[in-house]
Amino acid sequence: MRITPEKLERYQRDGFLVMENFVDRESCDRLRARAEELVRDFDPRGIVSIFSTREQNRLSDDYFLESGDKVRFFFEEDAFLSDGSLKRRKEYSINKIGHALHDLDPVFSEFSRTPDIQQLVAALDIEHPLLLQSMYIFKQPRIGGEVTCHQDSTFLYSEPQDIAGLWFALEDANIDNGCLWVMPGGHTLGLKSRWLRAAEGGMKFEVFDSSPWPEARLIPLEVTKGSLILLNGLLPHKSRANRSSKSRQAYTLHVISARCTYPESNWLKRSPMMPLRGF
Ligand code: FE2
Repeated sequence: MRITPEKLERYQRDGFLVMENFVDRESCDRLRARAEELVRDFDPRGIVSIFSTREQNRLSDDYFLESGDKVRFFFEEDAFLSDGSLKRRKEYSINKIGHALHDLDPVFSEFSRTPDIQQLVAALDIEHPLLLQSMYIFKQPRIGGEVTCHQDSTFLYSEPQDIAGLWFALEDANIDNGCLWVMPGGHTLGLKSRWLRAAEGGMKFEVFDSSPWPEARLIPLEVTKGSLILLNGLLPHKSRANRSSKSRQAYTLHVISARCTYPESNWLKRSPMMPLRGF
C-alpha cells in the first residue's frame, strides 16, 4: 500500500495521517494472539511496576528504565487492590508490553518489517530508518488508563527531532474505548518538554514551554481495526481512559533516522550487544 503524494502532504501539514485497512484482519489477529501468549507465559509475581503518565515517579523505576532492549509487562494503574494484589486476572490487568518486541519476538519482528511498513517509512524521507521502540497497548476494558496530552519526542528526544510513530489499531478504536485524540497542525508548536535522566539519578523534565496545551484543538480519531495512524514525534496527542466494556488494543512502533543524534540521557537505552536495527 503506497502513500500518495497528497497523503504525504497532508501528513506534513497536519502532523498525522490515518490510513485505513493498512493491515489485514488476519495480521491483526496474529499479533493479538501472540500478545495473549506472551501474557499467558508472563509470571507477574514480584513485579508491580505500574505505568502512568500522571505519576512520573512510579514510571521512573528501574523495571521501566531498563526495558528499552527487553520485553517487559506493565500493569494498569487501577489493576491493584490496596494490598498490592491484582483485582483481576493478569490477562485483564496489563496496560502494555514494551519496548523491544520488534527485535526480540519473532512474530512482532516479522510484522514490524513487512514491505508495506518499510515502503511507508521510506516515503517519509527518514534517512537510514531504525526501529527504536515498540509497544503493545491493551487499553483494558473498564480500567484502561488515561494517557495525558504529550509529544512522543518528549520521551524519545533526538536532534533533529526526526521521529515518526506508527500506531496500528488491532481493534476498532472509538471515543468510548479510548481512541487517540490529536491536535491537527500541533507539531509546529515546538517541543514543550523533554524527559531526561537527571545527574543525581532518576528522571526529570526539562520544560521549554510551560503554557497549557490548547486541548480544545484535540480531535478524536475513531478508526477501524487494521488502520494505521502515522504520528509526527512533535504532534500533541492523548487518549482518554477506557471505561467501556471493550478493550482497545494497539501496536505502536517508533522509527528514528540513524542520522539523528540520540542523547545518552534519553530514558530508552539499548545494550551495546543489541544495537538498533532497521528493516
Ligand atoms: Fe504517544
